[in-house]
Amino acid sequence: MLYQNLYLENAKETSDIRVENGIFKEIASHLEPLPGEDCVDMGGKLALPPFIESHVHLDACLTAGDPVWNMSGTLFEGIECWAKRKDKLTKEDVRQRVEKVLRMYAVNGIQHIRTHVDVTDPKLTAMEALIELREEKKDVMDIQIVAFPQEGIESYPNGRQLMIDAVKMGADVVGAIPHFEFTREYSVSSLNFAMELAAKYDKLVDVHCDEIDDEASRGLETLAARAYEMNMGEKVTASHTTAMHSYNNAYVQRLMRLLVMSGINFVSNPLVNTHLQGRLDNYPKRRGITRVKELLAAGCNVSFGHDDIFDPWYPMGNGSLRDVVFMGLHVCQMMGYEEILNSYKLISTNAARTLHLGEAYGLAEGKPADFIVLDAKDYYEALITDAPVLLNVKGGKKIAESVPGTKKALF
Ligand code: FE2
Repeated sequence: MLYQNLYLENAKETSDIRVENGIFKEIASHLEPLPGEDCVDMGGKLALPPFIESHVHLDACLTAGDPVWNMSGTLFEGIECWAKRKDKLTKEDVRQRVEKVLRMYAVNGIQHIRTHVDVTDPKLTAMEALIELREEKKDVMDIQIVAFPQEGIESYPNGRQLMIDAVKMGADVVGAIPHFEFTREYSVSSLNFAMELAAKYDKLVDVHCDEIDDEASRGLETLAARAYEMNMGEKVTASHTTAMHSYNNAYVQRLMRLLVMSGINFVSNPLVNTHLQGRLDNYPKRRGITRVKELLAAGCNVSFGHDDIFDPWYPMGNGSLRDVVFMGLHVCQMMGYEEILNSYKLISTNAARTLHLGEAYGLAEGKPADFIVLDAKDYYEALITDAPVLLNVKGGKKIAESVPGTKKALF
C-alpha cells in the first residue's frame, strides 16, 4: 500500500509512505507505485505517530450522575460518588462502557492508553474486566493497566494485599495516592511500598502524586528520591503534581534538581485539574496545574492526559486529546509559535517515553506501520481548526476513519 503526499510531523516537504506486511517499508520524498500496488494520494495532509492517552480512568468512564452527581465539583466529592458507583460494578458494565470509549479514542487518533484501574475493591471487578479487554482489543488498542489504590494503600482495609493481588493478576504498572493517605507517615510508607512492589515484579510506576492544592503535600520529593536511589527514574511517573503549582519558588528550585537527577516522567491533566483545583480558594483562585513549562525547560519529560471521561470527577470529556492540548497550552501559558506547532509531542513522543513504548514507536522505516493522518498540513493548523483525524492506521490496518464535514459559511 502506498500513501502519497503526506507532511510527516510538520515537515516542509511532503513524503510518500509504503506499507508492507504491517511495517513501514519505505519512506521517501517520492515513491513510484509498484505494479498492482494500492495507491492513495493524501493531498498534502499531516501524518503523525499515533496519539497516546497517558492518563485516564477507564473503569469509571461514562458514569457521571450515576447514582449521584458530584454537586461541589471537588475531587474529594468525586471519590465519594465513585465509592457509591463501585457497589454496582459488574464486569459486563465495565466492559460495555470501556468498549464504547475505546471507539471514541480510535476516531480521535489514539492507539495507546494507560488506564488507572481502582483496586480498592475487594472483588477487583474492574481490574478483571480491563485485563480481559487488554487481550481482546490488542490489535486495535494497546492498553496499559495501572493498579490504582483510589482510597489509599495504608488507609484502606487490606490495601497492600489488594495491590499485590492486582499485580499478580497482570497489572502493568503500580500506582499510589500519597496525598489521600490518612497521615504523612502513611503517605511515605505507601510510596516505599509501591516502589518496592514494582521493583520486585519488574513493573512500571505511576503515582497520583500531590493532586491537591495543599502546598505542604510533598509526596513528589519522596517518589523522586526513591526513584533516584533505586535507579528506576525512567520507569516512574508522577501524575498530576498539582501541589507544585502552590509550592514556593525557593522549594521548587531545590526540588527541581532532584527531579532532573531522578529522570522521572510527569503527566499533567489540564482539562480536569483546571476544573478540580482551586475549589476551596476565594479570589484569586489558583489554576492548580503543575509547572509544565518549567519542567520541560529543565529537561524533564512531560505528557498530557485526559484523566476522566464523563465520570464523577469530570462531567465532560470526549476522547479527544486535541482538547487536552488546547486547554494545556492556555493554562500553562505555552503559546509561543514553536510551542503550539510541536505541542502534539505532549500526546505522542513524550507520552511514548512515559509508557515505555520503546523503539517500535515513531514514523521510520522498519517500524510497525502505526500512524494517523489529520486534515491539516501541520499541527498548528490542526489544533486551531480542530482538524478531524482522517485515518488511524495500526499495523498497516485502518482502525478508524472520518470524512470531513461540510460546514461552510454562506457568504
Ligand atoms: Fe487521575
